[in-house]
Amino acid sequence: MAATPRPPASVPEDDEALIAAARAAQENAYSPYSGVRVGAALVADDGRVFSGCNVENASLGLTQCAERAALSRAVAEGARDFSAVVITSSFEEPLMPCGACRQVLREFAEDLRVVSVGMGGASKESTLGELLPTAFAPDDLRGGAR
Ligand code: THU
Repeated sequence: MAATPRPPASVPEDDEALIAAARAAQENAYSPYSGVRVGAALVADDGRVFSGCNVENASLGLTQCAERAALSRAVAEGARDFSAVVITSSFEEPLMPCGACRQVLREFAEDLRVVSVGMGGASKESTLGELLPTAFAPDDLRGGAR
């Protein structure tokens, strides 16, 4: 059965420029423990693009992923509404965002377009809603049981 065509993204992004921004951040990845380099480019509704890379730590558990690094940077610059995130990595195949990153992105974007591009050039596109259905989200804490 043919796949249902995906509707166009709400904001027309220049994916090539976003991939380049993610790749540039990926170059700066600090990952001496895993050797995996990840870059992310997060697109704000006002058109600004915030990039991030993974930053590992000798304690391992304190490693920060590229997507969360990009988000923290964006929020610090006053951006809170986002349309897309492009993820690149040193893996041949597209790297999908980890569960923690999905949850943290969900705080600010219910329907983010998520594009991941591998070193081999293949890409995977999805939405945050598809990647994290029935999420625990800000609304769950509004007017809730406390
Ligand atoms: N990593 C990310 O940056 N984003 C993800 O969504 C998954 C994993 C990083 C963390 C760590 O530095 C390396 O990839 C291996 O897990």
